[in-house]
Amino acid sequence: MPTTIRVALAGQSAGERSYDIAIGRGALAAAGQFVLDRLPARHAVVITDSGVRQPHAELVSRSLAASGIKSDLVEVPAGESSKSLAEGERLYGELVKLKADRKTVIVAVGGGVIGDLAGFVAATFARGLAFVQVPTTLLAHVDSSVGGKVGVNLPAAKNIVGAFWQPAGVLIDLDTLTTLPEREYRSGLAEVVKYGVILDADFFAWLESHTAELLARDPAALEHVIARSCRLKADVVERDERELTGLRAVLNYGHTFCHAIETVSGYGTYLHGEAVAIGMVCASRLAESLGRVGSDLTARQVSLLAKLGLPTAIANLDHDALLTAMHHDKKAEHGQLRFVLPSRLGSVEVVGGISEASVRAVLRGCE
Ligand code: NAD
Ligand code: GLY
Repeated sequence: MPTTIRVALAGQSAGERSYDIAIGRGALAAAGQFVLDRLPARHAVVITDSGVRQPHAELVSRSLAASGIKSDLVEVPAGESSKSLAEGERLYGELVKLKADRKTVIVAVGGGVIGDLAGFVAATFARGLAFVQVPTTLLAHVDSSVGGKVGVNLPAAKNIVGAFWQPAGVLIDLDTLTTLPEREYRSGLAEVVKYGVILDADFFAWLESHTAELLARDPAALEHVIARSCRLKADVVERDERELTGLRAVLNYGHTFCHAIETVSGYGTYLHGEAVAIGMVCASRLAESLGRVGSDLTARQVSLLAKLGLPTAIANLDHDALLTAMHHDKKAEHGQLRFVLPSRLGSVEVVGGISEASVRAVLRGCE
């Protein structure tokens, strides 16, 4: 039986904009019906990348066609460098060629790169097309496909051009993980660990005692992890969809360091989840240095992340460049850095007024 998680949004057109996350096995073959249950679709453009097209995006495309939806498929090169304005512009051109109109539905089949890029194109083409997320990486299952943040990178700053554009639905097929390379899979586990640290100490403890099942991609463990992560994220998004109250910012735990690491090392050097893992350790050490938490909290994160095969230290990156990149963080206000820092396991806060000297000391300690 598929598990369904509702993202019940508040505010303007809340009912229309709220949506389901359906989690099941073999779900891609029913993608056409999933779309039709939500949208009066006649034309869909599936956007995917070269690593996902076969078999996943082709399967989705066939399912759409079998449901009577004319389906075109557009492929972009796999990798973070496709999350660019240039690739977005190329996709706008493809949509024009395919005669996309305001009733066309965009179906994003891929990892976070495809979800963010295709979602951004959906948000902006013809002032907004409906879109459906069909995530195929663990990271996209537990994080990027939920919550409506879409966007692209500029060379100097990650995710700096974008929009809030909620999908009409998210279709998660656990079977897609059977083809996911090991490094990509582990990268997704970093975002799972993040939920435990920021929102749910019991979930963190559960992860600590199920590392063997997680590394073996045990289906029951995965279903639990994906459903719990989606529920935790949905709870936050429901209460602060547009990151206005500060609540949604907690999802960015570790991300100030992470985005700087990704920018300075060159997009794609570290996988996003790998940079999140290092970023969480740095943020926890920063909290320690400010007397907010004890060293045991950092030690538990380092131990769990290492068991899951994730990096926990920064190697050979210029600290001035990292600091410069951190100032582009969207949480920065009036030139002041702000960080999401733990106050205890399962709870974090956004903290401002942190000196560059404190950050530099942490960077030295995380090498
Ligand atoms: P990704 O989209 O680059 O996918 C990783 C690689 O795996 C790609 O080469 C892809 O071709 C391949 N792949 C994907 N699914 C596969 C499958 N099932 N089988 C085989 N290969 C497969 O990377 P990602 O880690 O999914 O996403 C990272 C991106 O997500 C970053 O750009 C990050 O900023 C973004 N992100 C966004 C949000 C958000 O809220 N919008 C949240 C977290 C991360
Ligand atoms: N990944 C952070 C957010 O969705 O807000």
